[in-house]
Amino acid sequence: MSSSQRDAGVPNPTHVAIIMDGNGRWAQMRGLPRQEGHRRGLEALRRTIRNADALGIQVLTLYSFSTENWRRPHAEVSFLMGLLKHFVEKDLAELSAANVRVRIIGGRDDLAPDLRRLVEHAETSTRANTGLVLVIAFNYGARDEIVRAARALAADAASGRIDPSVIDEAALAGRLDTHDLPDPELVIRTSGETRISNFLLWQAAYAEFVFAPVMWPDFDRAAFEEALAQYRQRERRFGGVTAPTDRSVGVA
Ligand code: FPP
Repeated sequence: MSSSQRDAGVPNPTHVAIIMDGNGRWAQMRGLPRQEGHRRGLEALRRTIRNADALGIQVLTLYSFSTENWRRPHAEVSFLMGLLKHFVEKDLAELSAANVRVRIIGGRDDLAPDLRRLVEHAETSTRANTGLVLVIAFNYGARDEIVRAARALAADAASGRIDPSVIDEAALAGRLDTHDLPDPELVIRTSGETRISNFLLWQAAYAEFVFAPVMWPDFDRAAFEEALAQYRQRERRFGGVTAPTDRSVGVA
């Protein structure tokens, strides 16, 4: 089968997840402070939300702060916390008017109380929206997410609410932060790095990966469309021998 035959009729993914990498290098290349890279990264994030919506993507997950990012200098950590606060305070009304539903995944216990309240408000106030689901992965690490899910199942088993012998993949998936979301079919990482960096390890089991060479602040509509075009060229077999014809996935 030629690549153009394969591309014909292949739909865009339902769920795209992005590792937004390269803010620091973008700034360094221009002799600017790293914070300027993150500021421009926020502009790229806003642009990507609009583009995802326009391209018919249903769920967009953005890796904004990892459990490992706490190791950065205190000033950079505070700046990123402030950037999330600024983003929610400034953009929530506009996102909601655009029918976007906001979700935050990651550990909440380490967030400052005001930030935690703010992200919870973003979720509850957009819960009834039916458009793009915007998932911000913040203080997120896949291993941490799986540990929290395992702990919840263990507590249920210890209290007799569930029988350990019936714990299956669906039971564990049902305890992840993403329990009501479809798995991503496409994971994009910018900056040319080719690692998964503790991102959606469970959910990306069958995802296609596209490693885009651009630094995150330069990720634009053309780069997004290029990643989607690469995805449509891939033949997804899910461990079988032929690509399934029905690939529709619902959003709970
Ligand atoms: C990775 O690039 C990027 C981050 C750790 C932060 C991502 C943040 C944004 C895109 C801004 C929007 C933020 C929020 C919180 C809504 P890097 O800094 O590791 O780049 P480098 O590898 O070139 O140093």
